[in-house]
Amino acid sequence: MVDSHMVTVEPLGVEVACREDQTILDACLRAGVWVPHSCTHGTCGTCKAELVDGDVDHGDSSSFALMDFEREEKLLMCCARPRGPVVVEADMDADEETPSHAVDDYTGTVTLVEDIALDTRRVVVELDREIAFDAGQYMAWQLPPALVGGREGVTRTYSMANPPSSGRTLEFHVRRTPGGACSDGWVFAGLAAGDVVRLTGPYGRFVVRMSRPDRAVLVAGGTGLAPIASMIRRVLLDGPSEHGPGPAHLSLYQGARTRAALYDVALFSDLAARFPDRFTYRPCLSEEEAEGYASGMVTDVLAADHETLRGHVAYVCGPPAMVDAAMRTLMSKQLFPRDMYREEFLDESNRAAGTVRSPLIKR
Ligand SMILES: Cc1cc2nc3c(=O)[nH]c(=O)nc-3n(C[C@H](O)[C@H](O)[C@H](O)COP(=O)(O)OP(=O)(O)OC[C@H]3O[C@@H](n4cnc5c(N)ncnc54)[C@H](O)[C@@H]3O)c2cc1C
Ligand code: FES
Repeated sequence: MVDSHMVTVEPLGVEVACREDQTILDACLRAGVWVPHSCTHGTCGTCKAELVDGDVDHGDSSSFALMDFEREEKLLMCCARPRGPVVVEADMDADEETPSHAVDDYTGTVTLVEDIALDTRRVVVELDREIAFDAGQYMAWQLPPALVGGREGVTRTYSMANPPSSGRTLEFHVRRTPGGACSDGWVFAGLAAGDVVRLTGPYGRFVVRMSRPDRAVLVAGGTGLAPIASMIRRVLLDGPSEHGPGPAHLSLYQGARTRAALYDVALFSDLAARFPDRFTYRPCLSEEEAEGYASGMVTDVLAADHETLRGHVAYVCGPPAMVDAAMRTLMSKQLFPRDMYREEFLDESNRAAGTVRSPLIKR
């Protein structure tokens, strides 16, 4: 039997029981106590909190996200495990629309695996029961221990591409990372309909803000389209939420090198035809010219299309370098950090190398 300790989370003033083998983030999210987090793997620094009182084991915290000299006074909630009663002070931002769905474990059956673009697969999973999540959130997939040298509890994170109204059915887009344990070693090496997968979630705060009526630009690189596809479908197809009707208008900028690497073009072209007043689609190719596609990097096309983006809100998702480039473009078009939301698809190589986030943008 593993000992549990009380973790007090300030400034909320709530107490959560946390086992010694459990991260503080996991205990909070399973108890329905939302605290800031993004990668859930000790890389991005979003969950960094003050260690006001008590002792923790810092676990896998990367020395880039939590430097050695900080470890007496701070912790990464996604890695730290309590060694006794602990008081932490989380860096809560005043955003009314932070997700509030408790994290839980699910068992799913794969119903579809299909190639949708170069090195990109769609995986559809039917869960054992319904799940509630906000459009833009993601799940942690448990890797079969055999794929990772017998280690238990190794996870990789993938964003839902379906809207929350899909009930038990989740759709994922997985890009192959050569040498990657989950993508190359599992999804592209034989994952098939009928296989059982274990998923935990939902996680993340990269969610569409339904309370913001501002026009939205959504910028997606590669499978960064997945959470953005969920947001677009949620706004266009699911109707208003308790927070509001969502953005008055959505413009999707989807980037890839060639047509072979771009996917779901028919889906978004169809949505643009069905919702001409609310949705615009700009597929962009950086290494190929083709009719119906903009030419150039997605960020250059975005920059050329808009003299200013004042009055807009932006959602950006994809590989870290593309997200950074998009952020610079958006700032050059007079968008403030408070109007930009982003998700970087950080992986084990980023973790090993350390990833520096702009101090300007915490979302
Ligand atoms: C919030 C979030 C959401 C995401 N959503 C999606 C999504 O919807 N779709 C998607 O395709 N991806 C998504 N990702 C990325 C995804 O989680 C994985 O990181 C990605 O699929 C690679 O996982 P892998 O197991 O295949 O590769 P990994 O095993 O993680 O390896 C990745 C790369 O790092 C190298 N590497 C491994 N270990 C080390 C080390 N110790 N030192 C140096 N290099 C190393 C590997 O050789 C490989 O090149 C998301 C990431 C985040 C953070
Ligand atoms: S969520 Fe903890 S470091 Fe990213």
